Amino acid sequence: MSILPILIHPDPRLKKVCAPVREITRDLRALADDMLETMYDAPGIGLAAPQVGVMKRLFVMDCVKEAGAAPQPMILVNPEISWVSEETNLYEEGCLSIPDQYAEIERPAEARIRWTDLDGKRHEERFDGLWATCAQHEIDHLNGRLFIDYLKPMRRQMITRKMVKLKRERERA
Ligand code: NI
Repeated sequence: MSILPILIHPDPRLKKVCAPVREITRDLRALADDMLETMYDAPGIGLAAPQVGVMKRLFVMDCVKEAGAAPQPMILVNPEISWVSEETNLYEEGCLSIPDQYAEIERPAEARIRWTDLDGKRHEERFDGLWATCAQHEIDHLNGRLFIDYLKPMRRQMITRKMVKLKRERERA
C-alpha cells in the first residue's frame, strides 16, 4: 500500500466527469486500498479517485468520528444517487483538494445510494448525517463538481486565489 499525492484545486482533472468502472481488476483493488490509506493519512473522511488523478467512478469514505471507535472503511464503485430527502442539512464541508478551507453547504439530509463493491456485488443503502453529506460530496467529485461550486462567485474566487498561492509556495519548497 502507498500514500498517493492528492491533487489541489485548481486542476483541470478535478473539473472532469469520470468514466464508469467497467471491470473490477487487481489494479482497481490496489487503487482502492491506496486511496483508503491516503484518506486516513491525510486525515479525511472521504476521497474520490479523480483527487488522485484517476478519472474513474469510485470513492472511499469512513465517517466514524468517535475516538476509539472501530473504523468503517467503505469503497463505492460506480455509485449513483437513487433518491434524496426533501429535508436538507447544513454541514461545514472541507475537501482534501482544497486544504484548510471550510464552508457551510446545504444538501439533502438523507440519500439512497446504489453502488458496486470490489467483489462485484450490488448494494443499495440509505445514508443520513455526515455519511449522507460525505457521499454526496464525493459523488460530486466524480462529476467534476467541488463544494466551492455551491458558493457565491466572490467567495469561490477568493478560495481559488488562495489555492493558486498555496500551490506556488509548495512548488518552490
Ligand atoms: Ni472533496
